[in-house]
Amino acid sequence: MIVDLVLSNAKAYLDSKILGCSLAINQGKILKIGKESNMPRAQTKIDLKNLLVLPGLIDAHVHLRDEGKAYKEDFYTGTAAAAAGGITTVLDMPNNKPVTMSVETLRRRTKIAERKILVNVGFYSEFPKNMKEIREIVTEGAVAFKLFMSEQIGGLNVDDDYALREALEIVSDVEAPVAVHAEDKTTLQEAEDELRQNNCNGIEAFLKAHSENVEATAVKRLLRIARQTAAHVHFCHISTENGLRAIIDGKNSGIIVTCETTPHHLFLSVDDLRRIGTLALTTPPLREKHHLAALWLGIKNKRIDILASDHAPHTLGEKKAKSIWDVKVGISGLETTLPLLLTQVKHGRLSIADVVRLMSEEPAEIFGLGDRGCLKEGNNADIVVVDLKKKHKIDASKFHSKAKYSPFNGWNVEGTPVQTFVGGRLIMDEGEIVAEAGSGGIIRRE
Ligand code: DOR
Ligand code: ZN
Ligand code: ZN
Repeated sequence: MIVDLVLSNAKAYLDSKILGCSLAINQGKILKIGKESNMPRAQTKIDLKNLLVLPGLIDAHVHLRDEGKAYKEDFYTGTAAAAAGGITTVLDMPNNKPVTMSVETLRRRTKIAERKILVNVGFYSEFPKNMKEIREIVTEGAVAFKLFMSEQIGGLNVDDDYALREALEIVSDVEAPVAVHAEDKTTLQEAEDELRQNNCNGIEAFLKAHSENVEATAVKRLLRIARQTAAHVHFCHISTENGLRAIIDGKNSGIIVTCETTPHHLFLSVDDLRRIGTLALTTPPLREKHHLAALWLGIKNKRIDILASDHAPHTLGEKKAKSIWDVKVGISGLETTLPLLLTQVKHGRLSIADVVRLMSEEPAEIFGLGDRGCLKEGNNADIVVVDLKKKHKIDASKFHSKAKYSPFNGWNVEGTPVQTFVGGRLIMDEGEIVAEAGSGGIIRRE
């Protein structure tokens, strides 16, 4: 038998250990992992020269935009950024133009994506107006649902506890997780209205509006509702000690709840926001330093389940609007996440096992991506090759993303993804995209 590809001289993360081995890949799957002498003949052979091989990262929180927001990012540029960052699967958020919230919008989005993507893409849907459509959206392939609690984006009235409960009941029936942007709409709007009336239009006003309390209030409210259902609730980008505390209480009380935080909430504080300005403006916002410590503790204790970039690209103009209330919020993160984490491995704050658990194994588990997230025979050959010794300075002007700015611009990192394989196909080689648009696959919920 002649297989498609053999990766030789790998140091691969297998079953919690890093082992010297070779990997045979055929028809998009890992066929065999073992000694070089046991490898079948191959069409192509790549000598990895003892570089580290990890399961491709799964970024469960990405805004790929495209369609009516393609001027910010499109399926090609967003997935090129993912491939460059060692990420082989992204889950795409639904706050698009049009909002992904029906069979029709999901079907159209999938069709447009198919021709353009370089990595695997799964789609979130917002809740439809007619709750009966939830099942059809899942049948159409949505991987999970997204609920924005800070404003109504989909068809669900987020002020209505009863409607939320009904939605959670239906998604628990179809066993799809619900990812939640936890900022309480009422608390947020009241604070923002008052600040605007008093002509407070700066960063400090924004921070007052998007207070710590806004996050904790939303988390607690949703957990009260989720408790009455069997839904799996996943809290996105948790940024505060109290928010995390409430989630841990929820976990301890038996609710099915998981959570994520982001590199920017782990590495940057409100001091960085004040220094950098609106380019670092995101929601939930960067926080005081003691929250960073609480999040790191949550990582250490395994109470934070995953990391995700919350890649949220905008144009530079949109990031620099005069009034803070007009600034588009979000940070471009696909190309910085893995290098930032590997730098922490170098400093001893994280292990390779942590990185794989937080960005491959657990996201695959939470979002039901069965045959991904770990290197084993039979799994999809979604692989990232990493040079742990390769240093670089983050240069946002070189991003593949259309959003060529970053609060991490100029940071020195150590540990660089050098090759990304998706379904056994080489997509990124030494920072360059080497595959055609459409090489990635659509992920549908089974
Ligand atoms: O910072 C953010 N950006 N928070 C959100 O909830 C939305 C996102 C975006 O789509 O830009
Ligand atoms: Zn969000
Ligand atoms: Zn987001």
